[in-house]
Order: sequence, then structure tokens, then C-alpha cells
Amino acid sequence: MLAMRVTHARASDPAHFSRVAAEFAKTLRAGDVVALSGPLGAGKTTFVAAAVHALLGGDLVTSPTFTFWHRYEGAPMVNHLDLYRVEGPHDLATLGLEDAFTDDAIVFVEWPERAPDLLPASTLRVTIQGAGDSPRELEIARP
Ligand SMILES: Nc1ncnc2c1ncn2[C@@H]1O[C@H](COP(=O)(O)OP(=O)(O)O)[C@@H](O)[C@H]1O
Ligand SMILES: [Mg+2]
Repeated sequence: MLAMRVTHARASDPAHFSRVAAEFAKTLRAGDVVALSGPLGAGKTTFVAAAVHALLGGDLVTSPTFTFWHRYEGAPMVNHLDLYRVEGPHDLATLGLEDAFTDDAIVFVEWPERAPDLLPASTLRVTIQGAGDSPRELEIARP
């Protein structure tokens, strides 16, 4: 079994947090899938916004909580899924979310726990701890 590579970062404020996300984003390639875990308000959407900004430029992300899937055209294309409101396999089939996972896109997934079977084994895992105005602890695990 290959060793998983795990890195940690601590972000004292949103600007610092976004810099960590931007640096991470520059290591991504088309076909990469990034799962973001952590409680409501931890910073998952903030992380994706900073990552998309670093990858494609512009201010692109609004919270997709009510749309499940936001697609950002570019090179590479970025798909941002938020599975918070997914309630089961039926939802996943109806929404066609598996179509988001293509070789020519980077995919970010908030609330991956809602659909564990949707994600490839190669998924990179970002876990965020912290809430409110306190610092955030980030763990990034690469299989
Ligand atoms: N150190 C910090 N790092 C990241 N976000 C922070 C920090 N301190 C406060 N925040 C705030 O926490 C909120 C995180 O919200 P959001 O990214 O929508 O969370 P989630 O998508 O995990 O529910 C943002 O309003 C952000 O400005
Ligand atoms: Mg969110």
C-alpha cells in the first residue's frame, strides 16, 4: 500500500486561509478531485473560491448550496459540487452529478460524506477545523 502524503497548515484569518488554498490549487491538474470536509462555516466554500480564483482568475464562486453543481469554464474547467442537500442515491442519479468527474476538469466536492461512492479512490482530502473568527487548521491528504 502506498503511503498517504499528509500536510498541515494553520490559517489565522480569511486572507491567510485563501493564500493556503491558492498555493494548493496551483498543484492541481485536470482530472484531480478534491473533497472538502468540515462543519458548516469551517471554510469549504471559501477554500474553493480562492482555489478557483487562483486557477482561472476572476471572482467566480458563489455558494452552490442550492444548485449542487457550479461549472467554471477555463483551462482546465472546474466543477464545484456541494452535496449538503443530497439525501440519498436517488438524488445523485437524478442530478447526474457523476458527469462532473471528467478527465478535463478539476472537481471540488463539499460534503463528500453525502455520496461516498461518487468519489474516485484518488481523491485528495482537505479537512478544515475551526469556526467563527478563530484560526483554521487544514489537513491535506494525498493518496
Ligand atoms: N481563519 C479563517 N479562515 C477561513 N475562514 C474564516 C477564518 N476566520 C473567519 N472565517 C470566515 O468563515 C466563513 C467560512 O464560510 P464558508 O466558506 O461558507 O464555510 P463552509 O463552506 O465550510 O460552510 C467565512 O465567512 C470566512 O470569512
Ligand atoms: Mg459551503
